[in-house]
Amino acid sequence: MARHLITSAIPYINGIKHLGNLVGSQLPADLFARYLRGRGHEVLFLCATDEHGTPAELAAAKAGKPVADYCAEMHDVQAKIADGFGLSFDHFGRSSSAQNRKLTQAFAGRLHDQGLIREVTEEQVYSVTDGRFLPDRYIEGTCPNCGFEDARGDQCDNCTKQLDPTDLINPRSTISGATDLEVRTTKHLYLEQSKLKGQLADWIDSKGDWPILTTSIAKKWLTDGDGLQDRGITRDLDWGIPVKDGDKDWPGMEGKVFYVWFDAPIEYIACAQEWVDAGKGSDWESWWRTDKGAADVRYTQFMGKDNVPFHTLSFPATIMGADDNWKLVDYIKSFNYLNYDGGQFSTSRGRGVFMDQALEILPADYWRWWLLSHAPESSDAEFTWDTFTQDVNKDLSDVLGNFVSRITKFCRSKFGDAVPTGGTEGPAEAALIEELTRRLKAYEGHMDAIEVRKAAAELRAIWVAGNEYLQATAPWTTFKTDPEQAACQVRMGLNLIRLYAILSAPFIPDAAKTMLAAVRSDDADWPTDIAAALHALPAGHAFDVPENLFRKITEAERDDWAERFAGVRT
Ligand code: MF3
Ligand code: ZN
Repeated sequence: MARHLITSAIPYINGIKHLGNLVGSQLPADLFARYLRGRGHEVLFLCATDEHGTPAELAAAKAGKPVADYCAEMHDVQAKIADGFGLSFDHFGRSSSAQNRKLTQAFAGRLHDQGLIREVTEEQVYSVTDGRFLPDRYIEGTCPNCGFEDARGDQCDNCTKQLDPTDLINPRSTISGATDLEVRTTKHLYLEQSKLKGQLADWIDSKGDWPILTTSIAKKWLTDGDGLQDRGITRDLDWGIPVKDGDKDWPGMEGKVFYVWFDAPIEYIACAQEWVDAGKGSDWESWWRTDKGAADVRYTQFMGKDNVPFHTLSFPATIMGADDNWKLVDYIKSFNYLNYDGGQFSTSRGRGVFMDQALEILPADYWRWWLLSHAPESSDAEFTWDTFTQDVNKDLSDVLGNFVSRITKFCRSKFGDAVPTGGTEGPAEAALIEELTRRLKAYEGHMDAIEVRKAAAELRAIWVAGNEYLQATAPWTTFKTDPEQAACQVRMGLNLIRLYAILSAPFIPDAAKTMLAAVRSDDADWPTDIAAALHALPAGHAFDVPENLFRKITEAERDDWAERFAGVRT
């Protein structure tokens, strides 16, 4: 038994995530956590909301609420939806927690002590009307390069030229539209991560087993990007963690807060403290401090590709720079994007399916199965209503659901509500056991390697093998001439339901529960031996015929949903 720490990138507090976000971090992290728990490992699975920064402030203002209230409400909304999807976090924390405030300040103090922080005085755009400094992307104006009138302060979306806000002609605040902008000087703290470049490069080089997507992004930023330029870790904002040097004030930094990307990953650690403080655990240090037992923990992070630079370089720079026995990540699983029906998901245009909407129209398992079996691993993937409908109807309803209902109904009608006795196993059963033994090994191998699509394909093949066994042995035909032999085949089928419940639980936990309840089994131990697992339910063991596990999506629903989620046309 091993100890596994698992974190998913923590979602921004403002707004509800779409299915592309879900499949790129939280959902595969949950799959892995459930699988490892199923195999008997000790797992700490953490996630949280990422609550600081300008977008949260603006969303709160738009909702007409104090930002702290807005965040508290949205945290509950996100927690409920996560629960609806069966995301089995041991704790769903908040980056605005007292624990994270303290820890973030402690990290900054420690990095200061290590000589890795310098103060920089710089010029920034201040909006008199808004009464605040404006982050670059909240300033718009005319591009000096191409004349595009809505160029942002950091980049022109029309000609892609990188800009400084001061380059813009007729700049204005996107918050208020104000044009009374002026350049003021302000002081910020910079983390000198350039000093850690060699150490970071060696560390990345040592990770030969990481997904190419992860290492290629990390290496690109290390070599030709500006990923390792010293970075500002403070901002002139009201909402955030006040800048402190450990528990002391930081002269000259009054009224400033840490940059959201500095405190957000530290929440991975603070979240374990919140987990303990909430009474759910007793020892967070054994998960996070290498001098307190965490050297034996395997730590895996899940995220979309846009988050990779922060997790391969910035956060490790914080951990390495602190040089204080904090645990570094062991494996980073990253994902490409899921697109929506020939384009991108778009929050602003309401294009695509968002997590709350998904649960309104279908139970979580339908989404979990489709999304995971189409996880954007080696390239971007695409959601279309056609493939979704086809795949769900085939895999879940025709293959798995049909198997369960066929066996249980047939048994009840011919033998009654208990596993029947009689008959002897022959070559068909031996072949089934041989195939499933081989496939179980493959399934475990893909799950251990977090090859999500391959694992789903193997699980599907395991379901198909059961169907083919039933097709070939045809107990309904056997019954007419040899009821004893049919009993043996049905017994195999009922035991397959139990096996499928255990193996499928990481992907479709609700259906797995229904299946296990149907065969009245409370022993859901991961199989070590297929032959033994297929004899776990003895003759005479009672069972129930479950409700249909999965219903079919109709063509009318498919068309209706395609229309409904197409977004407002622009
Ligand atoms: N909120 C970020 C996003 O959704 C992810 C933050 S991950 C963390 O892209 F490491 F900063 F916590
Ligand atoms: Zn331009």
